[in-house]
Amino acid sequence: MSLDSLKKVALDQHIPIVSDEGLLLIKDLIMKHDVKTVLEIGTAIGYSALAMASFGCKVDTFERDELMIESAMKHFDRFDTQKSIRLIPEDALSYQGDLGAYDMIFIDAAKAQYERFFEKFVHYLKPNGIIVCDNLRFHDLDPTKVNRHTKQLLRKISGFKSFLKEHPDFQTVFVETGDGMSITSRKI
Ligand SMILES: C[S@@+](CC[C@H](N)C(=O)[O-])C[C@H]1O[C@@H](n2cnc3c(N)ncnc32)[C@H](O)[C@@H]1O
Repeated sequence: MSLDSLKKVALDQHIPIVSDEGLLLIKDLIMKHDVKTVLEIGTAIGYSALAMASFGCKVDTFERDELMIESAMKHFDRFDTQKSIRLIPEDALSYQGDLGAYDMIFIDAAKAQYERFFEKFVHYLKPNGIIVCDNLRFHDLDPTKVNRHTKQLLRKISGFKSFLKEHPDFQTVFVETGDGMSITSRKI
């Protein structure tokens, strides 16, 4: 399977996917924390899910957009030969079905909803698990030079970072990698 071919599809169609550096960090975390099970919020065309499956993980992944679901399903049918990926074709926030217990939760969906994703899915994190979030730098946009909607989004992301920093039960490391990522684990 060529992840590069999927990356090209994403680039050609302007579909945002995890950066190369971001994926390297995720690979390192998977090795370091012996991650076997991942819950991903935000599949898009399946690039990061297939990458994590290729690193030896079982991946449950949420996607709500019909076109993305169709595309991801096609890619999983073709490239996920070990059947390591379960696509959950629903809005993660309204999903009421079963989930497992995960070594890692990767949040890479609607940026304004990160706190809600965290609050909803943290209950499925194993005791020593980690939560990784992408795009916390959000392209380093200057809040004084963007429209009202983007300004609001930047404020939400900033609020989410404060939420992580001040969380009584979890500790977070923020890294500049890619578009800015966070790695959260339970306080001991
Ligand atoms: C940045 S893309 C995901 C990229 C993917 N993780 C990768 O690196 O290959 C974000 C995706 O999250 C999906 N999404 C946003 N909010 C969602 C939600 N509440 N539930 C499920 N999917 C959502 C969007 O439709 C979009 O396809």
